[in-house]
Amino acid sequence: MKLLVVGSGGREHAVIRKLKENKEIEKIYCAPGNGGISADAECVDIKATDKENMVKFAKENAIDFCVVTPDDPLALGMVDEMEEAGIPCFGPKANAAIIEASKAFSKDLMKKYGIPTADYETFDNEKDALHYIEEKNTFPIVIKADGLALGKGVLICETLDDAKTALREMMVEHVFGLSGNKVVVEEFMTGKEVSVLAFTDGNVVKPMISSMDHKRAYDNDEGLNTGGMGTIAPSPYYTKEIAETCMETIFLPTVKAMNAEGRTFKGCLYFGLMLTPKGPRVVEYNCRFGDPETQVVLPLLNSDLLTIMKACHDGTLKDVDVVWSEEACACVVEASGGYPVKYEKGFEIHGLDENGQHDGVIVYHAGTKKENGKFYTNGGRVLGITAKGATLQDALDKAYEAVKEIGFDKMHYRTDIGKK
Ligand code: AMP
Ligand code: GLY
Repeated sequence: MKLLVVGSGGREHAVIRKLKENKEIEKIYCAPGNGGISADAECVDIKATDKENMVKFAKENAIDFCVVTPDDPLALGMVDEMEEAGIPCFGPKANAAIIEASKAFSKDLMKKYGIPTADYETFDNEKDALHYIEEKNTFPIVIKADGLALGKGVLICETLDDAKTALREMMVEHVFGLSGNKVVVEEFMTGKEVSVLAFTDGNVVKPMISSMDHKRAYDNDEGLNTGGMGTIAPSPYYTKEIAETCMETIFLPTVKAMNAEGRTFKGCLYFGLMLTPKGPRVVEYNCRFGDPETQVVLPLLNSDLLTIMKACHDGTLKDVDVVWSEEACACVVEASGGYPVKYEKGFEIHGLDENGQHDGVIVYHAGTKKENGKFYTNGGRVLGITAKGATLQDALDKAYEAVKEIGFDKMHYRTDIGKK
């Protein structure tokens, strides 16, 4: 088997290291990959969104199976084009990836099929949106850009003035580009947030172990939203009863709704949930593995990942056992100082062996490059220091112990991952 994994972050590194446990895989390519991934796969210099060259490479190198993990290539239809070229893929086609690529689509889907989520209205002009917010006069209120915005297109507005500013930025100044041409204005929900990633073949849903992201840049959930500064799994708030409710009221209804719309979803469907006083509700869907959720979820998977991914593609997921470890896992992200706004790159990273690893933990590389045998910072999120343990505290202790030994100039990380 020859595999191609599309992407270049910590999530792709986690997917590749789990896939590698299958000894039938003879070769894994990663495009474009990064410095740390190059120890586990052959990196190929093709941009993740470059469909034409990606398909050409896959054909020329007789790729047997392709795994597409980032949102952009999925929304652009990379899976559609690979499969037209005869290369089976793990990941949804473009008409199903829309569940993440358009918030207006996903909100309308939930309304139509009675899937619990925050009340909302969609607007394509600033005046009507503002009028609605003034009439409603309930704060905080949440304003979301319709399209993909690198996880930054959600603004929680405490006052009418905040809402005016948010609408102006999104709809008039276009700070999120075309993504802000349409906005969703929605009710503010309260409760614990949980991420549940689920394998699906468009019929059967097999949820992964739950996890919890830490989205803000600084301790105590202060600072700007980032791609995620650390994760733990499982989430202590996600009980068996809640999991059952989610399966009945959210997971299966979503997959059925997508089928009814002629948009069968195959791959990893990510449910961003809020455990509100009125029960679990959907905050957002993603059409892919979360980053850095994947880094704590996949190390706890005891089954073969390639078998599961192929079953998602083939529609045979019901025949495959998906077994999880009883352990816990924690990931602490080491980021460049200044991330998510402005940061420098190119600092040498100390504390890693020649494969970019460190004893006792798994080091997932998010933004690194390798030159003359040394690793250098090459992105906002640089490394995800990840450890398993019998308990969450065990896993956190191991991860933070290693964080002291691995680093670079101007490094920033949160000291409170998993504390709450
Ligand atoms: P999203 O990109 O939709 O996941 O939103 C980013 C973050 O904004 C979420 O993880 C929540 O913390 C917050 N958020 C989004 N929608 C709501 C809502 N309706 N009520 C409260 N918080 C929200
Ligand atoms: N960590 C959140 C996401 O992947 O969207």
